[in-house]
Amino acid sequence: MTALSEHVLEEIRELPAKYPQPRSAVMPALDLAQEEAGYLTAEAMSEVAAALKLDPGYVEGVATFYTLFHLQPIGKHRFYVCTNLSCTLRGANEIVEHVKGAIGVHEGGELSKDGLFSYEEVECLGACEYAPVMRLDHRYEKDLTPNKIDSLIAERRSPATPSAVELPHPALRADLPAKRGGEKPKPKPRARKRKSG
Ligand code: FES
Repeated sequence: MTALSEHVLEEIRELPAKYPQPRSAVMPALDLAQEEAGYLTAEAMSEVAAALKLDPGYVEGVATFYTLFHLQPIGKHRFYVCTNLSCTLRGANEIVEHVKGAIGVHEGGELSKDGLFSYEEVECLGACEYAPVMRLDHRYEKDLTPNKIDSLIAERRSPATPSAVELPHPALRADLPAKRGGEKPKPKPRARKRKSG
């Protein structure tokens, strides 16, 4: 039995064609693997390497370098709170403290008792104009407040009552393939140019 489903492996095999450098596919591939397996096991990483025809050591090196990848079990919903300068100036530390209190953990990477949540502090997410910002379930959540954090947690504890969702950050949408089972966005038809004269 493989660590990753054939469906996910197929998606991973298709990734290199989307990048000028096939090696660039390793990050979205690891993201898909982590999404399915919950965290990156040695087997999952070696299956990613085989699917991308890359050296397993290289794939493991990427997985261990970036904090967004996890080699240990983590929460089903993960708060990646930016604590870089712009976000800190706009209250990121208070947001971190609120998240910790709300999910009942003391440090980054710790799992909440119900296994649903964990949080981490991360470097700039490239959306400073919306500070304070975090990434949660592949979406960017912006202009964070304690109330907003509470709502996001409540929605995930009672998934039957989702509130309006925000569009993912454009940078993230470019990085990640369409959600599994969902439709890929269709390109807009181009307007025809009129011939002059
Ligand atoms: S400093 Fe937080 S997104 Fe840039």
